[in-house]
Amino acid sequence: MPHVPVLLDAVREALAPLKGARILDGTFGAGGYSRALLEAGASVVALDRDPSVLPYVRQLSAAFPDRFRFVPGTFSQLDSLAGGPVDGVVLDIGVSSMQLDQPGRGFSFMQDGPLDMRMSSEGQSAADLVNALEEAALANLLFAYGEERKSRRIAHSIVAARATQPITTTAQLARLIEKSIGRKPGDAHPATRSFQALRIAVNGELEQLVEGLFASERLLAEGGRLAVVSFHSLEDRIVKRFLDPEKSAPTRSRHLPEAAVELRRWVEVSKAIRPSPGETARNPRSRSSTLRSAVRSASPARPVSYAGLGVPNSRSAA
Ligand SMILES: C[S@@+](CC[C@H](N)C(=O)[O-])C[C@H]1O[C@@H](n2cnc3c(N)ncnc32)[C@H](O)[C@@H]1O
Repeated sequence: MPHVPVLLDAVREALAPLKGARILDGTFGAGGYSRALLEAGASVVALDRDPSVLPYVRQLSAAFPDRFRFVPGTFSQLDSLAGGPVDGVVLDIGVSSMQLDQPGRGFSFMQDGPLDMRMSSEGQSAADLVNALEEAALANLLFAYGEERKSRRIAHSIVAARATQPITTTAQLARLIEKSIGRKPGDAHPATRSFQALRIAVNGELEQLVEGLFASERLLAEGGRLAVVSFHSLEDRIVKRFLDPEKSAPTRSRHLPEAAVELRRWVEVSKAIRPSPGETARNPRSRSSTLRSAVRSASPARPVSYAGLGVPNSRSAA
């Protein structure tokens, strides 16, 4: 089933006014946001790192030949891929339903498939990581990116199991994790956090998010609008801290003179918007989504520290 766009009305509102605006959609997917923005009168430049979105691209190119353009690539480079100034940027972070539902992509522990998880089908797969990382590194990764408290026990079981046979499928890994940490009735599947962690690591998702935020800040001029939909607490924390530096860890010395404190780079930062009960009933995958949006000020773009944004370090001890 194609992806059902999440928090669509709120996204449209955050990017308004749309008529005649030029918007960059950094996560095209099935084109749900792009289509709605085009229908509201905007021009759209869309990016996606997954070549399997091309059938959806063709549909929008046929319907809006003058106002829609697709560029393959990652949103960490959106300022250089945009092809000119834009009035708004939207990012809908994470996996699409098409990626999740195809067993062959290896994102889901609910269906058996190769342990892959690469959005772009390039680079190291989840199986590469699971079969090659040292036990401590694997535990740290599961802890940092999955907030998995039983990461050491899982890493130990993985290393023991792969000594006899490499772990190559999603079902094999899901079973192994379940055996290692057990399963309580009513709880989420015990592999949920580990699969999230591996997906984040395979696709460099947190680095992509941070660099995408920096690139949006460089690209948008004063008054430009940014809307970001995220799906778990690690991502939402990064977006929240980025837009509102008062929420981030201090990155400057408190001994600096008052005058050196920089002006805010984002204004009109909205409160977090979450889906209504009606939306979660219609589309259960929207359940964990959060939208944050803001308007760019005239203050110059400036990268801030990864640590201040709360990006976990997968190399620290679990
Ligand atoms: C949640 S879906 C977007 C759905 C879309 N808003 C819609 O309404 O159909 C996320 C999409 O972003 C893509 N993606 C994820 N990370 C990306 C990145 N760093 N750069 C470019 N595309 C990315 C994924 O391949 C996926 O197609």
